[in-house]
Amino acid sequence: MEFQEFREKTALVTGAASGIGLAVARRLADEGATVVVADYDEDGAQLAAGELETAGARTAAVAMDVTNPASVEAGVKFAVDTYGGLDLAVNNAGISGPSAPTGEYELSAWNRVIATNLTGVFHCLRYELPVMAAAGRGAIVNMSSILGTNGFAGSPAYVAAKHGLVGLTKTTALEYADKGVRINAVGPGFIDTPLLRETDNPMRERLVSLHPQGRLGTADEVAGLTLFLLSDSAAFVQGSYHLVDGGYSAQ
Ligand SMILES: NC(=O)c1ccc[n+]([C@@H]2O[C@H](COP(=O)([O-])OP(=O)(O)OC[C@H]3O[C@@H](n4cnc5c(N)ncnc54)[C@H](O)[C@@H]3O)[C@@H](O)[C@H]2O)c1
Repeated sequence: MEFQEFREKTALVTGAASGIGLAVARRLADEGATVVVADYDEDGAQLAAGELETAGARTAAVAMDVTNPASVEAGVKFAVDTYGGLDLAVNNAGISGPSAPTGEYELSAWNRVIATNLTGVFHCLRYELPVMAAAGRGAIVNMSSILGTNGFAGSPAYVAAKHGLVGLTKTTALEYADKGVRINAVGPGFIDTPLLRETDNPMRERLVSLHPQGRLGTADEVAGLTLFLLSDSAAFVQGSYHLVDGGYSAQ
């Protein structure tokens, strides 16, 4: 165990049925946190919570669609009612959306990606922050991307949403700094998760070549940075955006 303090804490992780969210949920559970596994993939959330429970964690699955504010409100309320509060949140649920230049991008795809990757995180913050502010403590990580500062041709909605998340992170961090709540963003490079497994081989090889380390990242490597930001070791880290990208953004 690296972070003893997590044993006393309840965490909500969205998109925790798969990939980065699942890796974060596993790490938090390993550190003794109570973990609410939230995902709109109900079966996946149940499976993930079952795995954590078998490993000895206090955990529950909630069906949550981050595009629906009532669903997010209910998920946060569940955590508070069941475990007596909410100390940590990782707003991670996201989708990649199709690839097309902006002039040909389907309006419905734009709306879906923004609704999930940007408005979905706003919904989470909207219901997490009052609970944490009332308790006078809390730590939140918003899952952005290297595409929170870099452009990427063919992904206008995803890039706009992830840039927006960086601004939202800074703004909420300013608003809640004096209330004991820290909010930061993580910017992963391309990570080997189911989100990327849809991409064909040539595209995958291109993505690998964009990273100076010559490989994609792992979900566990993103979880490592995320746990640090949630921990008391990061007590003075507020409103900033942290990369875990194998050197992608150093170029
Ligand atoms: N994989 C990468 O290369 C990469 C890089 C940078 C950032 N990210 C970001 O990390 C986050 C997690 O991505 P991942 O790679 O683990 O993807 P993933 O597809 O493996 O997992 C995403 C999870 O989010 C859930 N989800 C999607 N829409 C939802 C909604 N409306 N409500 C609730 N749950 C929903 C899915 O069911 C899934 O379990 C995303 O925000 C993604 O943009 C991923």
